[in-house]
Parts: sequence; C-alpha cells; structure tokens
Amino acid sequence: MRILGIESSCDDTCAAVVEDGRRLLSTETATSAAEQNLYGGVVPEIASRRHIENISQVAQAALNSAGCTLDGIDAVAVTFGPGLIGAVLVGVNFAKSLAYAANKPLIPVHHLRGHIAALYLTHPDLEPPFLCLVASGGHSHIVQVESYTLFRVLGRTVDDAAGEAFDKVARVLGLGYPGGPAVSKAAAGGNERAYSLPVPHAAGPYDVSFSGLKTAVMNTVHNAQQKGEAVNVADMAASFQYRITDILADKLLTAARDTGAKRICIAGGVAANRTLRASLEAGAKRLGAQLYLPELSLCGDNAAMIAAQGYYEYAAGHLADLSLNGVATLGIDFC
Ligand code: KG4
Ligand code: ZN
Repeated sequence: MRILGIESSCDDTCAAVVEDGRRLLSTETATSAAEQNLYGGVVPEIASRRHIENISQVAQAALNSAGCTLDGIDAVAVTFGPGLIGAVLVGVNFAKSLAYAANKPLIPVHHLRGHIAALYLTHPDLEPPFLCLVASGGHSHIVQVESYTLFRVLGRTVDDAAGEAFDKVARVLGLGYPGGPAVSKAAAGGNERAYSLPVPHAAGPYDVSFSGLKTAVMNTVHNAQQKGEAVNVADMAASFQYRITDILADKLLTAARDTGAKRICIAGGVAANRTLRASLEAGAKRLGAQLYLPELSLCGDNAAMIAAQGYYEYAAGHLADLSLNGVATLGIDFC
C-alpha cells in the first residue's frame, strides 16, 4: 500500500511516499528555517504563508521522486496536530482536497506518533512493544509504545520541552535558530565540566523539568555581561548539552529499568543529538537492552514518518472524512 504523507505542523513543508509503512520511496521538504532565524524563532504567520506557497510543489516533487502519479497512491496521510494551528491547517486542507479530488482515503496522523514511526523506516525489524523518549521542539515524553496505535505516557516535561530549551539557550548564547544543531556545533570545542548547571527537580519519577536549567544558563550569561565579562560560549554550550542529555538519558534508562523494557528508542528532533545518542548507547549496554536510534535524516520533521504511521493508523481503521480539523494540542494517547 502506497501512502502520500503530508506534514506542515511547524516550519517545514513536507511530503513523502512510503510503501507498506516501511519502505521509503521519496521524501521532500521546503523549510522556512532560514527566514525564521532572522526573528530568533518560529513566527507562526510566516510558517503558514510559506506552507501555502510551497505545499503543491513539494507534494508534486514527492510523487515525481517516487516515480508515481496520484493514481498510484492508495491513501493520503496528514498531520492533524499537535502543532502551530495555522501551519497544521494548511496541510490538513491540502490533504483533504487531494483525497477528495483523487477519491482516496484520508488518514489523520498525530505528529508525535509520526516521529516514533521514523524508527520503523530505519529498523525493519522493530515492532512494538518498546519504550521511547520523544523529544522535539514542543514535547518531551517518555512513552510506552504498546502497539502501533496504543501509547501510554509514563513521563513528560513539566515546563519546557528539550528542543525548546536548546533553542532558548542558543538564542541567549547568540547562536541562532534552530538551536539544537547550533549548540552542538558550538559545544564541539568546549569543556562540558566548565559550568556546573543544576538538575531541576520534577515530581514524577519519569518527568523532566528544563526551565530552571535554561534560567541558570541565562543568569550566568547576564551576570557576566553586567560585570563586563564574557561567557565562554563553547564551554557553556558543552556544559548545557552535557547536562540536558544526561537528564534525558537518565530518565529513559530509569524507566527502562523499572518497566523491564528490553527495547528502547528515541525519536524527534532532539534524537539527532550525538551526545544523547552516545550516552544512550553506553547506558543501554549497561542495562542489557537493545537501543534503536532513528536515522539522522528522519529525526527532524518530515512526511515519511507521517506516511509510515499512516499505514498503521489505516490498518487500525483510523480514517477521517472531510470534516477533519487541525488541532493545536492533543495527547499522543488520544485513542
Ligand atoms: O521534531 P522537530 O524537528 O520539530 C518539532 O516537532 O518540534 O524538533 C525540533 C527541535 C528544535 O527545538 C531543535 O533545536 C531540536 O529539535 N534539535 C536538536 C538537534 N537537532 C534539532 N536538539 C539537540 N541536538 C540536535 N542535534
Ligand atoms: Zn516534530
């Protein structure tokens, strides 16, 4: 079964074709990240406008690269939330129009379920159940993936998402947007022990909190500025990256140990972080668990992951009609 996936929940306009949930035939993206960088973060109105301008060409390019026409597609899958509502609505309305015009089934896909499905495209042998840390710009969850469409949230951030913390720290260090890759690059030449940053307390055993960590970085930078001193950007980037990835890895490994999970995974934009990946490689080995990492190119937003998850939603009978609406917030365990 060939599914055309559409994703537009943040600043990337994406389309992809995936066969049977596992075989990537094409994936295309147009991004407004460079333009967003001028403003230090995503301006929702700009994201929506660029989606409208780009979505037709991106979808056509995905069909062309897959060597098929709309006739060769069996269904259209689309991110219907969570995300920036104006941005989500562009993809939802485009997908609805396409499904209606071509008389194809329409499959609504939850964005974070899509991030998890990027793992199916990377690891043909991976099947639920498994434990997954989903860390993106808007979410940080530890999720028990019980089946392809059944999810149980064990822990979550009580304030900022991990990616959001990277983005805010990057901004205060003058490193630009998106912050994750910029912080990683700056950290490469730094000493991760140079600054001692706090581990903020979160109530639940698998919950995380990053607001205090972000504030500690900001206070150090502002205090130095007030004294006319400079913060060593490489050292601060390395210290922050070390601290936040250590917290994420520790929570995921603790949850794996407590639940006896033998398969552990990460997904979402932050899953591209090499320090986090290395820390989990070591931790999983100690635990005797198998670690599955998504291919780097599939960690950030893309439509291949939406088409992949769409296959399993379709199999579970989760279809939408033309009344489908976008939603800004929605739990991964909504059904
Ligand atoms: O999943 P994603 O592409 O979009 C959302 O659904 O939010 O995640 C984007 C987030 C951004 O906050 C970005 O700074 C972060 O993922 N990110 C990273 C890295 N690459 C992207 N964070 C840490 N290290 C990276 N290498
Ligand atoms: Zn995402």
